Amino acid sequence: MTIPPGITARKEELYRLINKFNYQYYAIDNPEVSDSEYDRLFRELKQIETDYPALLTLDSPTQRVGGQVLDKFSQVSHSLPMLSLDNMFNEADLKAFNKRVKGWLNSENTPTYIAEPKLDGLAISLRYEQGILVQAATRGDGNVGEDVTINTRTISSIPLKLNGSGIPEVIEIRGEIFITKQGFESLNKQQITDGKKPFVNPRNAAAGSLRQLDSRITANRPLEIYCYGLGEIKGLAKMPGSHSAAMSMIEKWGCRISPELQKVSSIEACAAYIEQIGERRNNLAYDIDGVVFKVDDLYLQQRLGFVSRAPRWAIAHKFPAQQEMTTVEGIEIQVGRTGALTPVARLTPVFVGGVTVSNATLHNQDEIDRKDIRISDTVIVRRAGDVIPEVVQVVLSKRKEKSKPFILPNRCPICDSEALRLEGEVILRCTGGLYCPAQRKEAIKHFVSRKAIDVDGLGDKIIEQLVDKALVDDPADLFSLKVEQLSALERMGDKSAENLVNAIDLAKNTKFSRFLYSLGIREVGETTARSLANHFLTLDALKEADEEVLIEIEDVGPIVARSIVTFFHQTHNQEIIERLLMAGLVWPIEQQQVTNTLLSGKIVVLTGTLEELSRSEAKEKLLALGAKVAGSVSKNTDYVVAGRDAGSKLTKAEGLGVKVVDERTLIKWIR
Ligand code: IVH
Repeated sequence: MTIPPGITARKEELYRLINKFNYQYYAIDNPEVSDSEYDRLFRELKQIETDYPALLTLDSPTQRVGGQVLDKFSQVSHSLPMLSLDNMFNEADLKAFNKRVKGWLNSENTPTYIAEPKLDGLAISLRYEQGILVQAATRGDGNVGEDVTINTRTISSIPLKLNGSGIPEVIEIRGEIFITKQGFESLNKQQITDGKKPFVNPRNAAAGSLRQLDSRITANRPLEIYCYGLGEIKGLAKMPGSHSAAMSMIEKWGCRISPELQKVSSIEACAAYIEQIGERRNNLAYDIDGVVFKVDDLYLQQRLGFVSRAPRWAIAHKFPAQQEMTTVEGIEIQVGRTGALTPVARLTPVFVGGVTVSNATLHNQDEIDRKDIRISDTVIVRRAGDVIPEVVQVVLSKRKEKSKPFILPNRCPICDSEALRLEGEVILRCTGGLYCPAQRKEAIKHFVSRKAIDVDGLGDKIIEQLVDKALVDDPADLFSLKVEQLSALERMGDKSAENLVNAIDLAKNTKFSRFLYSLGIREVGETTARSLANHFLTLDALKEADEEVLIEIEDVGPIVARSIVTFFHQTHNQEIIERLLMAGLVWPIEQQQVTNTLLSGKIVVLTGTLEELSRSEAKEKLLALGAKVAGSVSKNTDYVVAGRDAGSKLTKAEGLGVKVVDERTLIKWIR
């Protein structure tokens, strides 16, 4: 078929544009065109390729969508072995490494090192010939890996063609393929929706996604890359002298390298880097398991060489694992304020994510069923940062023969009332209400908590004793407690008893919104309580409101409205409120807040470390200005306030084009 004039040139132009926009979108997170403009160009190119198949080449951006299905992966021998790294765990190891390096080099001076995070994904070697990606191989045993070229072409942050000047005849670029934490979560949600098994962690998800025989599956997985090294090179006119120069060179050609890459020229600087990245570990968008130090000078690297499987010019500092194996010694049932029965796994204590973990919530029966967690099972537990420890998966190969599936009881373990699962709910609830001592204790704990009426010094242990000794049945009883009664409790002297009575008395002066929150009305959290107080101003006005009136209010939907009306209709709630007021609970009459037009109704997300304000202060101030403070970024977010070291939320905001402001702007708003 003859190709009309202009078509080839247009094809080239489309390659150039699409590659450029891909790079902007996936590699540097800074798109210049709209999605629809991009789609239009992509469709145009596809059409050209359909009309003139001879024009289709390996580096066409259309090859990114996958399509080919393989029987198996073929093997690839690495022209230069893909090495692994020796590990170290502390500063002494670091010093010893540096000493060894200096010894080998016969030098007094610490060489310049390059520090990078050690990504927790899987290694890949990308072979470019005349700048075109011709082969991608996994590490395998270091000498022979698997050919995953077709799958790799679907990864948008990997250039199909290197761009720029000085591109050699052959260059192998090596890096780590990974999935971000956010990508992992959405992938797992999708897996569950599709009735498939969720992945245990982002690394497994990345490995599983890359090793798909059907490349269309890989194309739909959120795989990314950071390049960190080079393999075979032929015909490169000017060899860079250092690792950092090599990384800048490939970055110019369109490869993505870690933005965290840093030059460090002393052991102290290495230690500071470890500390700095360690602190930010949980805020990074992806999982890392340590940091890597490499001698920067490539000539020195060559002189150092490698022994067995690892180079002598590099070392990995490993962070504590965020995932470990342990056993489920038992499953206990906790009863919450609203009667929810929560199964909690008692674990053989295990050091994970930097702390010793001995409990993990199992959430509910569905979750137990889905993971089929049984007493005596060996399980994988994960704890990352401040995140609550979680049982990720059972290690089935270690299951005891006699184990049985765990089923939540149908009676409350505390008060023996029937436990029911309401229609549409996943949670089993004790029907005992305030008859149930566990619910009573939790209701009182909530009532006195910091965001409620805030009684200083009334801790959980005291409340538990008060309820067990029948000194307090409900929140209103707190106000008639005597010093003698309190001082008779365990670990409570006369002085602390007196202080506590004073603190309870002090807490009588509260705010309407705090009072509403303290009542523990189902579905009424801090923000809703504030909206209700601001709208109704008085308790009488709120009590009279029906569902129709209530749903007009911000933050109040039909379920919340129903819950509020039901609460105020129940006689025992009316009685408790009455007794609280009789006991002297008061609050100043609320003034309707002047709404700040800039922020009223706006959704704001706080992320990173704020320097001047605490998180809770910032939140309180924003709420007072009529803003809503959300925990995660979505396309509905109006502003993201980014503090120091902001991580994945900031990245997401930028990706979605959400307006990002700094702490100074936040303070300006507040003032
Ligand atoms: S350099 C010869 N840099 O860690 C040195 N490796 O234990 C080759 N990895 O197989 C590796 N992040 O998959 C290097 N910034 C980084 C890395 C990194 C993750 C992985 C890589 C390698 C393994 C070695």
